[in-house]
Formats: sequence, structure tokens, C-alpha cells
Amino acid sequence: MSDPAFIDQIMAVMEAAFDPAWGEAWNRRQLTDALMLPNTFAVLISESGEELTDYSSQVAAGFVLSRNAPGEEELLLIAVRPEFRRRGLAEKLVDALKAQAGARGAEKIFLEMRQNNPAQTLYRKLGFQPIGRRQDYYLFADGSRMDAITFCLMNKNV
Ligand SMILES: CC(C)(COP(=O)(O)OP(=O)(O)OC[C@H]1O[C@@H](n2cnc3c(N)ncnc32)[C@H](O)[C@@H]1OP(=O)(O)O)[C@@H](O)C(=O)NCCC(=O)NCCS
Repeated sequence: MSDPAFIDQIMAVMEAAFDPAWGEAWNRRQLTDALMLPNTFAVLISESGEELTDYSSQVAAGFVLSRNAPGEEELLLIAVRPEFRRRGLAEKLVDALKAQAGARGAEKIFLEMRQNNPAQTLYRKLGFQPIGRRQDYYLFADGSRMDAITFCLMNKNV
């Protein structure tokens, strides 16, 4: 999906949600290039928890971006605007991802995150299991490094 209004909505959440200290937000070019690929998908959610259908008039409070491969899905990014956090929106986004990825045949959902990201609590609550650790995987601008943890969820929505 390369509709500019769709990209605008995701970028607005991206810029509001990610702490620049970690350099994890994607730029517009990265996002647009990714969404040109037929196996990359985004779900957008409103403040009230409904999936966005009209990208020009509704405002996104959060999004989840994922990539499909045969039998599996990778959660690439999930974000919710700071003012709408801790209301269950990320849980709803993961539920929508599970349903949509299931319809694409994804029996497993993988993700990778830096080890100190508080989102880990969310993933564990939703049933993701840690399956691996990549030592010193992330390199930051100050030269420091941090491990990545890989999580996997068995998707029952297939
Ligand atoms: C991670 C993020 C998407 C969570 O969004 P959210 O809408 O606030 O999450 P939810 O309200 O659905 O949280 C559900 C549960 O997950 C856990 N949780 C979510 N955020 C948490 C946090 N910052 N610290 C600890 N637990 C957290 C809690 O158990 C929470 O339930 P509770 O509020 O009843 O305690 C949001 O904080 C965010 O956008 N962070 C910046 C981007 C980011 O780092 N994304 C992850 C890597 S791509």
C-alpha cells in the first residue's frame, strides 16, 4: 500500500512514539519502500481501538508493521502515540495482526527487540516466548552495544 495518506498516518505515529535515543524509528523512505513489497503489511488503529479504513479523515493512534514469509510473520514495528498508551491499543493491534497473519497462513509470529525495551512486558503478556538472544546485536551512536532477544508466538488464528 503506497497511498500517501496511509504513509502519512504511520509516519505521524512513528515520529510521536519512538524515543530518538534508540534510533529505531524508520524514515519515510524506508517505510514507503517496505510497503511497496507485496509481503509487507500495516494495521492502523484509532484512539477508540477501531481499525482505520479511511486514512484521509481518521487519525491513527497506533500501528503495527509486519512482513510475511511462508508459514510465518515477522512483527517489524509496533507503536502507539504516548497520549494513548496503557489503554490496550497495542494488544488490539497484535490481535489484528494475529488474525490477518493467520489468514495469510502464518502459524508463527516472530519479533526481535533490544533487551531493555519495556515492550517486552507486552509481548510476554500476549504469549510470546523468548527463543533466542543475539549478543551485542544493536550498535548505538555512542558506540555502546546491546543484545537482541528473539520472541515467537504460535498463532492459533491460522
Ligand atoms: C510498546 C507500546 C507499543 C505499547 O503500547 P500500549 O498501547 O501502551 O500497550 P497496551 O496498553 O496494549 O499494553 C498492554 C500491556 O502490556 C504491558 N505494557 C505495555 N507497555 C508497557 C510498558 N511501557 N512497561 C511495562 N509494561 C507495559 C502491560 O502489561 C500492559 O497492560 P496494563 O496496562 O494493564 O499493565 C508503546 O509503549 C510504544 O509505542 N512504545 C514505543 C515504540 C516501541 O518501543 N515499540 C516496540 C518495539 S518496535
